[in-house]
Amino acid sequence: MNELDPQRLPVHLAVIMDGNGRWAQQRMLKRIIGHQRGAETVKMVVEQASLLGIKYLTLFAFSAENWSRPALEVRALMTLLKKYIRQETARMMRKNIRYNVIGDRSELPDDVNETLDEAIHKTAANTGMVLTLALSYGGRQELCRAAARLAQDAVSGKLSPADITTDLFESYLDTGGLPDPDFLIRTSGEMRISNFLLWQLAYTELYFTDTNWPDFTINELHKALADFQSRERRFGMTGDQITQRGTLLNA
Ligand code: IPE
Ligand code: IPE
Ligand code: MG
Repeated sequence: MNELDPQRLPVHLAVIMDGNGRWAQQRMLKRIIGHQRGAETVKMVVEQASLLGIKYLTLFAFSAENWSRPALEVRALMTLLKKYIRQETARMMRKNIRYNVIGDRSELPDDVNETLDEAIHKTAANTGMVLTLALSYGGRQELCRAAARLAQDAVSGKLSPADITTDLFESYLDTGGLPDPDFLIRTSGEMRISNFLLWQLAYTELYFTDTNWPDFTINELHKALADFQSRERRFGMTGDQITQRGTLLNA
């Protein structure tokens, strides 16, 4: 296993969990079996991230565009989600993990929303890792919702256009209060963002692996995190400036 520097882990890790369907189809299994196996990988990553001391873990579990999949698959995913939350809440309590959800919850079935509310409520006082599930989530839709709420506040006189800064705008996003992801992992070989966290990924380090989500292992997670630790994040500055800053910080 790769040696990880506990001081240089991402504060916020985001994951696009992709490849469940292909994992199943390659084995002549139904796609939903791939989703079930994917749920096991979710358990592992949640446990590992929390053990490593990562403060924020955000998982892309169901996109706004995933509603266009066959109704049978959508229904099965909603059932699986409910079952997962119900089964895992006790473990989240033991591990001091707090649930959070981003996305358009008005599109989710009532029973799923009830299960989510219960889990969010139960874990609300937990002080460990924040586990954010992106459900019925799309980055463009989130930006539109934020713009609409901003416009509403402008119309009602709560703010004027001159007040709109990046910090203020951010507070209107579903992720208001969360730091931007430092590291994004996408499995299954696709090298795209698929409408995930469009605003928040501005300076995120990206990592792509060919492994399908059900096959993603602890070893691979550690390998990805080791890769993150080898990156120089410059945020528009020069490499020299970053080295200097590091020297000052370590002095
Ligand atoms: C990711 O796996 C899970 C969801 C999008 C819900 P996919 O279902 O997208 O798997 P592939 O990409 O078809 O293999
Ligand atoms: C992104 O995967 C959404 C989730 C992982 C939940 P998709 O499988 O929906 O993305 P595309 O369609 O291949 O871009
Ligand atoms: Mg996919």
